[in-house]
Amino acid sequence: MRRIPLIIDTDPGIDDAVAISFAMFHPEIDLRLITTVAGNVSVDKTTDNALKLVEFFDVDIPVARGCSEPLLKPLEDSSEIHGESGMGGFHFEKPSRTVLPVHAVEALREELVKSEEPVTLMPIAALTNIALLFKLYPETKEKVKEIVLMGGSLSRGNTTTAAEFNIFTDPEAAAIIFESGVKLTMIGLDVTSRAVLMQKEVKQIETMNRAGEMFAALFSHYRGGSMKTGLKMHDVCALAAIVQPELFDFADTHVEIETGKGPANGATVADLKMKYHTETNATVALDVHVEKFREWFLEMLEQTK
Ligand code: RIB
Ligand code: CA
Repeated sequence: MRRIPLIIDTDPGIDDAVAISFAMFHPEIDLRLITTVAGNVSVDKTTDNALKLVEFFDVDIPVARGCSEPLLKPLEDSSEIHGESGMGGFHFEKPSRTVLPVHAVEALREELVKSEEPVTLMPIAALTNIALLFKLYPETKEKVKEIVLMGGSLSRGNTTTAAEFNIFTDPEAAAIIFESGVKLTMIGLDVTSRAVLMQKEVKQIETMNRAGEMFAALFSHYRGGSMKTGLKMHDVCALAAIVQPELFDFADTHVEIETGKGPANGATVADLKMKYHTETNATVALDVHVEKFREWFLEMLEQTK
């Protein structure tokens, strides 16, 4: 089977941890590199958390530390959702592994340049690293097969009325990505807020294997939803869109990022009726088949050991 070369750019982050773990063990995924960025918590913490996951599963996947601040805005983290450490609720051993000796943007460039085939990028955090990559090394766009990102919303936001966290954190970076011309799929809150685990699934995963036990412990500290309304599995939806796209309904459209300073800052404005644009720049997820998503989630966990 031809495996998909993948790089994950991430801010672990409890829901990031699920996406990263599943990608590590998915038979169709060749996870080449994990790059970290400031977002849910500081880049020191997101990097430490990425190393904790690599150590927990004892896999040899390189981790590179990325940007500590958005391009222009000050960082406003979401530690209230993920805990002070960013992965509260589970005790991880101190990682023995260390990060690559280069910045994430350099690691991204080196990985893309050396790859024999184009690589899929899966950003599940603010887009700061990827935007800098394209600005510093525009030639690397040729080696990106597609970007499948978790971020944005076709309706309301979760950080402000208008904006989803990953885009709100760095709207200028998002604008660079959406205007880059690179093939782009946006998995936004419209589907990720419906891709929820209920108490039933959390109970099931807790005793399934050590990854499930770790997830259940993290979920006890996760405030992305609740046991009553469901825990929102935002980031793993980006992986699902790559390996199991039939879980979603999609539409091709044009998405504009609001970078003005007002209350719409960070909004992803999709011209779904193409009233204002003749060219599309993104495929956006419109809906998710929730029960099939839950079945997929449990199947993925089975193989995550
Ligand atoms: O809005 C949800 C996104 O913001 C997810 O990527 C979550 O991890 C946070 O980064
Ligand atoms: Ca994230």
